[in-house]
This record gives sequence, structure tokens and C-alpha cells, in this order.
Amino acid sequence: MKIAFFSTQSYDKKFFDEVNVHYGYELLYLEASLNATTYILAEGCDAVCIFVNDKADAETLRNLAKLGIHNIVLRCAGFNQVDLDEASRLNMKVLRVPAYSPESVAEHAVAMILTLNRKTHKAYNRIREGNFSLERLTGFNLYGKTIGIIGLGKIGLAFGKIMEGFGCKVIAFDPYEKNVPSHIRLTDTDTLFQESDIISIHCPLTPQTRHLLNKESFAKMKDGVMLINTSRGAVVCTADAIDALKSGKLGYLGIDVYEQEEKLFFRDLSESVIADDQILRLMSFPNVLITAHQAFLTIEALTEIAETTLSNIKSIEEGKSSANSVLPVNS
Ligand code: NAI
Repeated sequence: MKIAFFSTQSYDKKFFDEVNVHYGYELLYLEASLNATTYILAEGCDAVCIFVNDKADAETLRNLAKLGIHNIVLRCAGFNQVDLDEASRLNMKVLRVPAYSPESVAEHAVAMILTLNRKTHKAYNRIREGNFSLERLTGFNLYGKTIGIIGLGKIGLAFGKIMEGFGCKVIAFDPYEKNVPSHIRLTDTDTLFQESDIISIHCPLTPQTRHLLNKESFAKMKDGVMLINTSRGAVVCTADAIDALKSGKLGYLGIDVYEQEEKLFFRDLSESVIADDQILRLMSFPNVLITAHQAFLTIEALTEIAETTLSNIKSIEEGKSSANSVLPVNS
């Protein structure tokens, strides 16, 4: 079995090579991301392995099918980058890594909260320059604050557990999750927006969650609320978030994901002219913290991703059905 890896980074190669010792597959590492033009790089392969910003849209899938490739393995949990209806029409198998160390993402969300609140990034730079002043570094206690979680799945639950350790009250909105711990109160979005001091997004990107956080929802929130997004960029309307930051409605914004991240993230653009005005505006706010989709990036998560992805390939090879298959909503 030969597998073409699109959007490969050095850490992908390191962890997949280590795990592949037990599988012996032929792994072709490609730097290019997958799209309707680059698909040709996978010629001669039996499967493609893709990540969050690869584009497995209808045209790309049809092109892959013409090469005889009918296996798509995602080395991530989210699958919004794949046209599942087209994949099903083309008889393609799509498998993902539904769970890999939810704590990796949950802990990154907490790191963003602590950084924005206690301004440790600013203190670090100040001290290096011999500036020992405490002016403008005042934060607030997390103890006693209300945390609103949107999407109480694996990551949302792990995040809630950590925040309870800080002595926070945790409320959540999730239209589907039924078994919630008794100490987390499920609520509707309006109540969550009104009561939360910090809101953290942990739902997938779907037609229902696209721009769930917009002008109307910001208007219902507390003044100076903190918003953390480690889920998918398009759950937040970026233009409305910028307006909310300008008006002071949003007091802090921490994002590990961004609506137009495909053209920016996972690349070193330090010598390039960045054409995306919205990210430049976000970067200019003193109360905005941006990380480039790194919430998953821990040794534990990368090991689990490699193990599950290669075992997904094995189940395809052996013709077994898999609980990690992703199917269209109405199938
Ligand atoms: P999960 O499937 O365990 O949980 C998602 C939860 O969202 C479920 O409980 C579901 O019922 C809920 N949900 C679905 N539609 C909703 C809606 N309209 N409103 C509110 N909640 C809704 O998934 P998991 O593992 O917790 O991951 C969540 C998301 O985190 C992924 O879909 C992915 O987009 C993102 N993610 C980000 C990573 C990063 O590195 N930044 C890494 C891994 C995941």
C-alpha cells in the first residue's frame, strides 16, 4: 500500500515514520496541500492522507478517482474539508481520527486564557528588555467566573474539567450531547452568551455552526467577555469579531483557528507581504492572541494520530468496516 501525504510537516514525517515501522507501508511525503491541481502528485498511490487545510472538494475527489484512488484518510478529527456526498457517489472510503488526546486541545485553550488574562507574553518580553514595571499587566481571578462551552464533546468535556479545577462555574450549549456530568449545566445559546465571562468554542464546523458567533451573538454577551476559538475559524464571523473588539464588547480574543487560515497557517511567511487584511487587523490588537492551529501539537496527540491513521489504512487493506469511517449526513 502506497500512501501520498499532502501538507506534510517535519513532525508528521517524524511520528509517522516511527509508527510505520510496525506497518511497513510506502509513505510518500508531499509538502503541497491537496487541491484540484495538486492531486496529480498522488499518481501511483493507493490512498491519500490529508490534514485540515487540504481541499477534498468534489472536483479534487473526481480527479483522484480518475487516478484510481478511492481511499482518503484524514489525520485529523474534523472532516469539513471533504465533500462527503461526492465521496460516497464515487464509492470512496473516508476515514478519520475521531479522538486523539482531547486534552491536547483543551490544555491549549486554557493556555490561551491564562496568557490573555495574566499577560505572561508581555511580561516575558518586558523583562528581557529590563522593564520590570507592572503597569498594564493586571489580570483577573479565574476562580468564581462563569465559563461557557459551545460543543460539549470530547474536547469540550476535557476543557470543562480543567476549568472546574480553577473553581469556575461551567455552563454549556450542545444540541446533541446527552450524557453530561451533573455539575455542568446545559443551557441555550442566549443564556450562555449572557452569563459567561469566558466563552470557549469546541463544536465542529457545520452549516449550523458557521458564523454562530456573529454581530447578534456578540451583542448578547457581557461587555469585555473573553472568546477562545480552538475549533474551526468559520464558527466565528471574523469581520464581526473585529467590530466587537473595536467597540470593547470583546475584551479578549484567543484564536488557534482562523476563517481564511488555508493561505497562512503552517507556513513561514515572515519574508512575505501578507495580503489578508483581516488577520493583519487582528494581529494589531493588544488583546488578541493568535496561534496557527497548534492546539493539537503534543507528542501524545501526534503519536495517537499516526497510530490511528495507519490502523485505518490497515482496515481498508483488510476490507474491514471501521468505526472511524465518515459518511454523508443522510446516509
Ligand atoms: P466531538 O465530536 O467529540 O465533539 C463535538 C461536540 O460538538 C459534540 O458534542 C456535538 O454534539 C457538538 N455540536 C455539534 N453541533 C453543534 C452545534 N450546532 N452547537 C453546539 N454544539 C454542537 O469533537 P471533539 O473531538 O471534541 O472536537 C471538536 C472540534 O475541535 C472538531 O470538530 C475540530 O473542528 C476541532 N479541533 C481542533 C483542533 C486544533 O488543533 N485546533 C484539533 C482537534 C479538533
